[in-house]
Amino acid sequence: MNGIKIDGIKIAQKIKTQVRKKINLLKSEGIKPCLATILIGTNSASLTYIKKKHEACKEVGIATIDHKLPNTISQNDVNELINSLNKNNKVHGILVQLPLPKTLNRFETISHISPKKDVDGLTPYNLGMLTIGKKILTTCTPLGILEILDYYDIPIRGKNIVVINRTELIGKPLYSLLLSRDATVISCHSFTRNLKELCKIGDIIITAVGNRKKFVLTEDMVKDNAVVIDVAISKNHGKLVGDADFTQIIKKASYVSPVPGGVGPITVAMLLKNTIIAATL
Ligand SMILES: NC(=O)c1ccc[n+]([C@@H]2O[C@H](COP(=O)([O-])OP(=O)(O)OC[C@H]3O[C@@H](n4cnc5c(N)ncnc54)[C@H](OP(=O)(O)O)[C@@H]3O)[C@@H](O)[C@H]2O)c1
Repeated sequence: MNGIKIDGIKIAQKIKTQVRKKINLLKSEGIKPCLATILIGTNSASLTYIKKKHEACKEVGIATIDHKLPNTISQNDVNELINSLNKNNKVHGILVQLPLPKTLNRFETISHISPKKDVDGLTPYNLGMLTIGKKILTTCTPLGILEILDYYDIPIRGKNIVVINRTELIGKPLYSLLLSRDATVISCHSFTRNLKELCKIGDIIITAVGNRKKFVLTEDMVKDNAVVIDVAISKNHGKLVGDADFTQIIKKASYVSPVPGGVGPITVAMLLKNTIIAATL
């Protein structure tokens, strides 16, 4: 029997409807939510992501300020730009598109963002608050994954959840979020041994490696009726793919998220939601 294909576009639309309602409320109080983005360099994937984020803002009525900077820009100039956006009362959210050029320091750059405007939830303050169970602004992709699980009423409490990724962007915040919902979280990475055996005990498997030469989640790694959330986005023969062998896994799992059309659209919707939270702070 086939499992259910998770519909990320439908969930994203639901979130956007909620966001529009909140924007109308804020506007009635004289607040016009505004997101400032900073893109440094000419990475083509980053250009596409920034374009999508601006389009989504426009769709729901969030104003945007678009800073596109050359990769020759100095760390000082980037810090100063962020400082000026921190002080600008008309700007509620600041997003620095990653990855940065090698000449810039990611930690220093992100640390300059005011935690109240940190719509990506990546500042040390927001990551720390999440770890101690007092989340304010949290990374969009992990939040989007929880939206998926809640949308389909997939229980989290007491479940074994295997997360294949340990980055600040995905694995670490996801670990804290799932732990706060009483899951048993198994954090996996490139040094994890017996990954197949660990995956097989997962009631939910969340995978975000993004390199099919290094890792593919195959059907024999997934137990019957498990839930598989595929976060990864990579290209295989010119086609966008995730980590999971979707066609085979959906025959066995209860729910599987596709790539594209799964986690991606929800991540963008969560950015809109975070911008509204920032505007209310
Ligand atoms: N859908 C969305 O909205 C969305 C949002 C953000 C990112 N993404 C996608 O998610 C993927 C991951 O992003 P990222 O920025 O976190 O990438 P990353 O920095 O390259 O991290 C990849 C993670 O996978 C682990 N890994 C690598 N090889 C492995 C293996 N053979 N077995 C088990 N784990 C392995 C790494 O472990 P180590 O820590 O040991 O290196 C690391 O934790 C990418 O494809 C990205 O495009 C999607």
